[in-house]
Amino acid sequence: MSEASNSAAVHGGVPGPADRAAWLRALASRYALLPLRLFLGVTFVYAALDKLSDAHYLAGAGDPASFVSQTQAVRADSPISFLLGVALDHPTLFALAVAFGELAVGLGTLLGLWGRVSALGGALLNLSLWLTVSWSVSPYYLGNDLGYLMAWTPLLLAGTPYLSVDGYLARRAERDRVRGLKEEHVRRRSLVDGGIAAVAIGGAGLLTGSLTRTFGRDKQPAGKQSTAPAPTTPAPAAPSVSAASVAVGGSAQVKDPATGDAVYIVQPKAGQYCALSSVCTHSGCAVDAPKNGQLYCPCHGSRFDAATGAVVNGPAVKPLPKYTVSKDGDRLTLGPLQS
Ligand code: FES
Repeated sequence: MSEASNSAAVHGGVPGPADRAAWLRALASRYALLPLRLFLGVTFVYAALDKLSDAHYLAGAGDPASFVSQTQAVRADSPISFLLGVALDHPTLFALAVAFGELAVGLGTLLGLWGRVSALGGALLNLSLWLTVSWSVSPYYLGNDLGYLMAWTPLLLAGTPYLSVDGYLARRAERDRVRGLKEEHVRRRSLVDGGIAAVAIGGAGLLTGSLTRTFGRDKQPAGKQSTAPAPTTPAPAAPSVSAASVAVGGSAQVKDPATGDAVYIVQPKAGQYCALSSVCTHSGCAVDAPKNGQLYCPCHGSRFDAATGAVVNGPAVKPLPKYTVSKDGDRLTLGPLQS
């Protein structure tokens, strides 16, 4: 007899605190994978729409944020460089396959349709990202793709039996068996209905992705900006800090008034000042403040020289954008972007 039924017997059939605790524990076990499933599903849908709405993603090799540039940047160090060569032969096809693959995996995971297949797709995507963009990250546990790969494992093992299309189809198949339908018929019905649901969800995903791509943000990729004159607005005041706040080897943070991006004003050697963008040239993460003469990007481990912005360690291939800095008395003032 279970702990809960024992307790119910003691309380004369009325559930006591022990019954409720046992029921809560059973409920928590049943839905233990739901938070992980929601997180992975939402993250993959978000990542896919982010790629599809970003004009830089499908831009050519001249744009550091493009699929081509990022693939080229990691190719030399990747253990699957031969596969990256194939991807670089058909970059648009592969870039779209990655984005739409993420969308299909995200929707399948969120709705719990063919949960194990979706989890396998997610695991394969993260495996390929780990073997490419995260491969040079040291130590290995800072590469987030390995963590995602591990996060897919429980869903791969358990599937998505609760609050899901899979769960609904399984319950209906059970009812069909009870009604005496042949096993072959039950299986075919589940497969056909699962296929119809997959086509419907895939179509909705394709439509969403295509609309996102068409009406996406930042429609002008790098190097193809409009030549129309910009509307004239008063120039915002140049940001400045006191020189005393920037120690030798240290930095102070200001904002680029044009973009709102954080910029580090650095003093790499006594009396020598420079200013570097905090936006990593690999995939746009924010790099950490300079430490030991370098700026570190926590996303995939790139390192940049704090005196010049040059790449010390990839996968980034382009230096951090540099600004001019002028010193007037005790004030350090951020100037225009140099590179
Ligand atoms: S965004 Fe990838 S290393 Fe910085």
